[in-house]
Amino acid sequence: MRVLISQQDLDRRVAEIAADIDRDYAGCERLICVGVLKGSVFFMVDLLKRLTIPVSIDFFQTASYGANVSPGEVRIRKDIDLSIRGKDVLLIEDIVDTGYTLRTILDLLRFRGARSVKLCALLDKQAARQVPVQIDYKGFEIEPLFVVGYGLDFDEKYRNLPYISVLESDESDAAPPSPS
Ligand code: IMP
Ligand code: MG
Repeated sequence: MRVLISQQDLDRRVAEIAADIDRDYAGCERLICVGVLKGSVFFMVDLLKRLTIPVSIDFFQTASYGANVSPGEVRIRKDIDLSIRGKDVLLIEDIVDTGYTLRTILDLLRFRGARSVKLCALLDKQAARQVPVQIDYKGFEIEPLFVVGYGLDFDEKYRNLPYISVLESDESDAAPPSPS
């Protein structure tokens, strides 16, 4: 395992993004922050603890990889509970890879009549993109490597590493990533 982004660099960047969001949404009555389970949880908690604007939180869970699923087909496993009609929504994700997951969720949020929908993603694997996705708040751009830690898993392992690491062992060739 090779450390790609240290705990210190994550902390610093998360604080910068939080300051941007605080500034952009100043005066917002309540920002609905929607995380995509499970990978976004560590990032979302650290980010939201730094916001001073009023927020509510909710979660989606999706499944994008599976035996009978074609690329680009994203299934919603858990939907949000809150009504977002007329609300400002910030979608929070760990990583944008092909973009299929985010495309699907962003379309759904807009379809439901949110007043505004923006995307905040910690990591951007630009070179792996299959569908265009606009990232309004971005942590880091990374090479198309398989990374784990700070919420990201391989086979449900390594999520609790406090930094982002590149999985270099043969393990990453052994199986596809588990759902989000
Ligand atoms: P998408 O390909 O942009 O739809 O990304 C789908 C999901 O795959 C992401 O939300 C992550 O949960 C997962 N994923 C993509 N790349 C990685 C990675 O490098 N490590 C761990 N999970 C990943
Ligand atoms: Mg994810």
